[in-house]
Parts: sequence; structure tokens; C-alpha cells
Amino acid sequence: MAFILGFGGYVPDRIMTNDDWAELVDTDDEWITARTGIKERRFAADDQSTLDLAAHAAEKAMEDAGLTAAEIDEIIVATDTPEAYTPDTASFLQHRLGCREVPAYDLGGSGCAGFVQALDVARARMLLQPKRILIVGVELISRLMSWKDRSFCVLFGDAAGAVVLGPEDGRAELLDVVAGTDGSKTEILTLKTGGTRYPFNAESLASGAYQHLDMDGRRVFREAVHRMSTAVEDLLENTQRTIDEVALVIPHQANKRIIDAVGHKLAIPEERVYINVQDYGNTGSATVPFALWEAKETGRIRPGDLVALTAFGAGFHWAAAAIQF
Ligand code: ACO
Repeated sequence: MAFILGFGGYVPDRIMTNDDWAELVDTDDEWITARTGIKERRFAADDQSTLDLAAHAAEKAMEDAGLTAAEIDEIIVATDTPEAYTPDTASFLQHRLGCREVPAYDLGGSGCAGFVQALDVARARMLLQPKRILIVGVELISRLMSWKDRSFCVLFGDAAGAVVLGPEDGRAELLDVVAGTDGSKTEILTLKTGGTRYPFNAESLASGAYQHLDMDGRRVFREAVHRMSTAVEDLLENTQRTIDEVALVIPHQANKRIIDAVGHKLAIPEERVYINVQDYGNTGSATVPFALWEAKETGRIRPGDLVALTAFGAGFHWAAAAIQF
């Protein structure tokens, strides 16, 4: 059995509003709000990197669990905006936190589904050997995205969220996780340049292709709604629960219209769907663990609540988790 022993979340102090963006690119608050629901987002300070954000959230989660770094047995970091190209952010984090020489690895490239996928991996690892696993979802997108492409820059923010899983009875039991991938849809959301197929070179640097996300917005929208809602339905079937028993659905926060459509498809009232995209934008693999932490901190989750996490990301990946508080 896997229990969540502690929760953590962190956002940088710097607030970037829609009006701030309107001063830099040809956009306005009305367009951004109507299409995405986003009003503002947080951006890391110039001297912060992915590791700093991850460490803040991880330290909170360990403190919340009443554990020291020496008591962590494994680390998984879900991120698409890593500390360095190699090695992975988890290696840096292990050293920063002062953990033992425990296994540490990233789940990268899975976009915004990474954290929930990591819950699935961690749960399977715990079946082999009971251990305490620190899982972090973190993104520092503002550093790597183009600040000139209005179609994308207004969507994103920086954040980190973390949990510690363990075998002993904690505050919440991870009842089940479902996950899947449709690799035939890699082209609907991809940052191609920088890999071996399209390496960095003078041309891609000059054209800005290394920062260009190819996205078929409408297909991503459709897939996101379909996969996130179906994943929750699969969870409910596996755990023999009904949607009426779910106190809160915490979906990936890409866009309020996607979240509303998922709620509608699941036939769950608005007040039982967690939304904070208006305050933080899309923070990739950090949205779900950060929202989970925030919902718990603000009393939106109470003892006895059944909570469903659901996420989608480039791949096309999806994953959902049922948590019994
Ligand atoms: N401000 C003003 N106008 C803009 C902006 C902006 N920031 N960005 C684009 N536009 C313009 C476009 O240039 C276009 O103008 P044109 O008609 O003159 O060519 C017009 O607005 C419509 O552009 P679309 O890209 O078609 O806008 P759309 O209605 O599809 O909305 C959005 C874009 C919000 C991204 C939408 O496609 C969507 O919700 N997609 C879902 C996926 C998503 O949220 N992806 C983000 C991350 S993915 C993830 O989290 C895994």
C-alpha cells in the first residue's frame, strides 16, 4: 500500500499579469481571459533555476511528512524544463537536499502528465520494496520559452509541487493510478528542435525554432478533455466508486475551458472541480501537485475526502490517480 505522508508547493514571488504581457506582445487581458481563464502567473527570479523551485517544494513536503532528507529512499522529478541537459534534475536535487546515495531520476518529456505518471511508477516501485519516495513536479518555463510568441508565452507560469509517498499509514492513501499514451499523436504538441532529429544549430538558433512549440490547439483541446475524463472514469471503475463520492477533482491546469469541459463530461458540479489556472497559468507537470498542496492548505480537502487527480501532456500522455484522505 502507498500513502502520501507529506505535501509541498512553491511558486516564485514575481507576478506577471495579463496587462504586463500586453505591454510586451500584441495581446490583451480580454483575449487571454476569454480563451484560457488565466489572469496572472508567477515567474522565477533571474537567480532561480529549476532546482531552486524543486528544492523549495521538496523541503516543504519532507517537513510536512516529518521526515529528514536522510529518510528519503528514492527521488523522482517530473519536468520538461530541467536544471541541465544532462544529468537530470533529480541528481542535483538529491545533493541539494542532502539525501543519501539513493536512486534518483527524472521523468522528462511527458509534458504536463509527468507528475501523475510518476505516482504510478512510485507505486509500482513500492510494491517491490516498501520505501519512502519523494516525487516532485516542477517547471521553469519562463526561462526557456519565447517571450515574443504571443500564442504561447501568455499561457505558462513557473511552479513546483511535491509529495512524499511511504508505506506507513499517512494522511491519504493512493488507491489507484491509471496511465496511458497514444504515441500516434506526437505531432499535435511538440517542441522538435534540440533532439537528434532536429539538433541545435546556427539556423535553429537564428530562427528561434528551438523555442517553438508546434501545437494543434483544437486537437489538443479535444484529446485533453477526452483523455482526462476517461481516465477518471477508469479510476472510478477500478476502485468501485462513483463520481458522486468524489469530493474534488484536481485536473491539470492548462486552460479553464478544458477544465470546465472535463467537469461537464464527468457530470460533477463546478464546486467539486479545483481551478487555480487564473492565478498561476499552466505550470506543466507542477500544476497537479501544486494544486493538491494548495487545496489541502486552504481547507478544500478534508479528512475522509476522495480526491481524483487527472492530467494530460505531450506524447500524447494521460494519467489519473485516486487518493483517499
Ligand atoms: N493575444 C491575442 N491574440 C492572439 C494571441 C494572444 N495571446 N494568441 C493568438 N492570437 C490570435 C491568433 O494569432 C489568431 O489570430 P488570426 O485569426 O488573426 O490568425 C487568433 O488569435 C486565434 O488563434 P488560435 O491559436 O486559433 O486561438 P484558439 O482559439 O485556438 O486559442 C488556445 C488558443 C487557447 C491555446 C487554444 O487552442 C486552446 O485552448 N488549446 C488547448 C490546448 C492548450 O491549452 N495548450 C496549452 C498547453 S498544452 C499542455 O498543457 C499539455
